[in-house]
Amino acid sequence: MLTDKKIILGVCGGIAAYKAIELLRLLTKAGADVHVIMTRAAQEFVAPLTFQTLSSNPVHTDLFNLIAEREIGHISLADKADLFIVVPATANVIGKIAAGIADDMLTTTVMATKAPVLFAPAMNVNMFTNPIYQENEQKLRRFGYLFVAPISGTLACGWEGEGKLASPEAIFEGAHAALTKKDLLGRTILITAGPTREEIDPVRYISNHSSGKMGYALARIACRRGAKVLLISGPTALAEPEGIQVVKTTSASEMHREVMARVAECDAVIKAAAVADYRPLVRSAIKIKKKSESVTIELVKNPDILAELGGAPHCPFLVGFAAETDALTKNAEKKLREKNLDMIVANDVSQVDAGFNVDTNRALLLFRDGSSSDCGLMSKDQLAGAILDHVAARLMVQ
Ligand code: PMT
Repeated sequence: MLTDKKIILGVCGGIAAYKAIELLRLLTKAGADVHVIMTRAAQEFVAPLTFQTLSSNPVHTDLFNLIAEREIGHISLADKADLFIVVPATANVIGKIAAGIADDMLTTTVMATKAPVLFAPAMNVNMFTNPIYQENEQKLRRFGYLFVAPISGTLACGWEGEGKLASPEAIFEGAHAALTKKDLLGRTILITAGPTREEIDPVRYISNHSSGKMGYALARIACRRGAKVLLISGPTALAEPEGIQVVKTTSASEMHREVMARVAECDAVIKAAAVADYRPLVRSAIKIKKKSESVTIELVKNPDILAELGGAPHCPFLVGFAAETDALTKNAEKKLREKNLDMIVANDVSQVDAGFNVDTNRALLLFRDGSSSDCGLMSKDQLAGAILDHVAARLMVQ
């Protein structure tokens, strides 16, 4: 999504300036063409050569540099930008832009651009909570400027509190969101992800190979597209996606409870989780000892969350997944019909590049009206985008 996007990275003078290097690396790795502008103060913290080397583009530092201004001036930079990110955005620079002051390369280019501008502020907690700063931020927000809020923590100045630069990953996510159409704005989407664990005793459980990657990709992309996302997750090793409310669950029964508690507020539910169909009838309170040659564990059926949602009188737009190793279309169609779904994402989990615990997937999308769409091999982010295209389109006509 960032491939060939022209991004201007404006770096201001703050101790967090070195973190802009990490952001630059994320942006260039994602295929963006990044042009860096540094304020005079920023150069006190990091040398321009670092940004020049990592961006493979000249770094702009001086509004009055005759050669640089002739070759690619501030207006030309402002015009060709798809996105402008200011990291770290200091109280000084935010204050200047809010007051309409354009007295260096960075502030002049921000004022001249028509591209979305994303500020990632970082400053001392007392500066951050100062009503003058807050009023400046609110003013810029009213004009449509975007912000990635700072986080709380120990600040470089020794103070504790809000004002610490958001992580490069959070700013990177903000960059994606700034460039994404908001066709799910105002929608609430519940997404389940990951496996469930059904305990046998305090140290053993029944589970499956789901990593959560498919569900987390759906959550991230839906959030970028403006949806309020409720992510109900089984146990995974994945980092919580930025800006998303994550409800952690372990067993199918817990996931069932958490989904049912929230479904009334949702426009759509997407069930990417690999929910165990069965759980042990009895969970031993103590570790089962090794005695006989074999053991038998009696299993009982778990609630089928998706089928229960499909059977409810007022259910939101319902998307299920079908993880199959044989007869993909036939089995998925059966689940679509029997669970009363609007759409099912059928993936053949016997393929090495699809299904469980890989970054790619191949899926066949089947719809209630009998239509279908074949998604070939793609990243889970891309498949999430394709699924959400259908969800957004169908929610629009409901
Ligand atoms: O997490 P990853 O490593 O990225 O892997 C992704 C995935 C393979 C887990 C995902 O793409 C996928 O296929 N998820 C559904 C797995 C599954 O449980 O499929 P199923 O065919 O057994 O179930 C059909 C549907 O019913 C699913 O939407 C499932 O969430 C739901 N279900 C199943 C059982 C149950 N008790 N309750 C349910 O809601």
